[in-house]
Amino acid sequence: MSRSAHPAGPRHADVMTEGHYTAPPADLNALDEKVWARTVSRNEDGAVAVGGIEVTRLAEEFGTPAYFLDESDFRARCRAWADAFGRDADVFYAGKAFLSRAVVRWLQEEGLNLDVCSGGELTTALDAGMPAERIAFHGNNKSVAEIERAVEVGVGRIVLDSFQEIARVAHVAQRLGRRQRVQIRVTVGVEAHTHEFIATAHEDQKFGIALAGGQAAEAVRRALTLDGLELVGIHSHIGSQIFDMAGFEVSARRVVQLLAEVRDEHGVELPEIDLGGGLGIAYTSEDDPREPHEIAKALGDIVTRECEAAGLATPRISVEPGRAIVGPTAFTLYEVGTIKPLEGLRTYVSVDGGMSDNIRTALYDAEYSVALASRTSDAEPMLVRVVGKHCESGDIVVKDAFLPSDLAPGDLIAVPATGAYCRSMASNYNHALRPPVVAVRDGEARVIVRRETEEDLLRLDVG
Ligand code: LLP
Repeated sequence: MSRSAHPAGPRHADVMTEGHYTAPPADLNALDEKVWARTVSRNEDGAVAVGGIEVTRLAEEFGTPAYFLDESDFRARCRAWADAFGRDADVFYAGKAFLSRAVVRWLQEEGLNLDVCSGGELTTALDAGMPAERIAFHGNNKSVAEIERAVEVGVGRIVLDSFQEIARVAHVAQRLGRRQRVQIRVTVGVEAHTHEFIATAHEDQKFGIALAGGQAAEAVRRALTLDGLELVGIHSHIGSQIFDMAGFEVSARRVVQLLAEVRDEHGVELPEIDLGGGLGIAYTSEDDPREPHEIAKALGDIVTRECEAAGLATPRISVEPGRAIVGPTAFTLYEVGTIKPLEGLRTYVSVDGGMSDNIRTALYDAEYSVALASRTSDAEPMLVRVVGKHCESGDIVVKDAFLPSDLAPGDLIAVPATGAYCRSMASNYNHALRPPVVAVRDGEARVIVRRETEEDLLRLDVG
């Protein structure tokens, strides 16, 4: 879902007029630093390297397809977010983007908190030693078992998503003799995607409790009266892959308005607001994401201004970036298989993965870039569509891109910015084996999530 994404995106030859690319880039061998992880570059032989290791070596050792994650870039991005928001705010990494035990350890070392949205993510976080009080638990339909576990282990906050859940969490907490810190997730009436935001047609979705019609105010009323709950704040998440801060501005203004209403009605100033995640990254050279310090300043200014106007003390702000931290840090490496030139249309380049390791193109019409990674080439550019090996014509990894016309089976190509929502949304479609995630840092590569094996598949199939 980068800027030019559209639900009914181009599928045919007219892509050259409707699509992302109108002309090949000046230099096909160049790696735009906007879309590649920070330590990625080409070595003297022309092979792409990350953390000092060439993809040719990585492919030999770990196979393809595989995700290679630049650990120092991941850590640097965590630090940039933590530094930008400073001591008076909290950064919760959204684990849904990509979560593993190694990631949880890096987050702890870099001072971030963690947002989880399922029992599985909670287990991963706890197993890797994340202190429960640094975990926020999300979800629109948490099971009673999940709630019990979260309360028992003492998560720092549960984000309440419905009236039923307010009662359910209060009941569980009371039964366990606890007082659970909670926030209420409100729907502020803003739905933001890419660079636009729509201030209508937003309540018609499953998350949160609407501000409209006084529902959120009623939720606060209930939460404040229940013994098992300590209501600490209001939460709002407005969408994904957002570049424009205007949607956050509307969201912050409406959340602060609610805080003022709560103060007026109950004499209580809620101490926290969470403005969610959703900050965009560059998938192609056309995207211009903002830096964490710009985002922190913009959000901080909005909240301070709105609170001053409402006569409220500025609450503690938190944010939940997922994609903006992990997205740019990884690329997927594929081996080129069959190559099919379609006269007058484009060349279909098939790789050894596909929609099972990156569903985003098929699901959201997402845009990606691609580069020949095992070598450079001076051949003329050719218009390609990178497709997978699944039995489905929508199995597209990169819709429109240019690769050198001497591309051959056995070449390695890399798709950057696949760190977020690719491995975490990977599937076993066609009994594909989900690829490994390999962390690379300072000349060393290590598997943090191993490749699935056929034994893994058969183990689940109990016959
Ligand atoms: N906080 C909440 C409450 C969320 O629901 C999400 C994402 C985030 C934070 C993190 O958003 P991020 O900063 O990563 O954009 N599968 C889709 C994205 C779904 C996002 C769902 N919620 C994709 O691949 O684009």
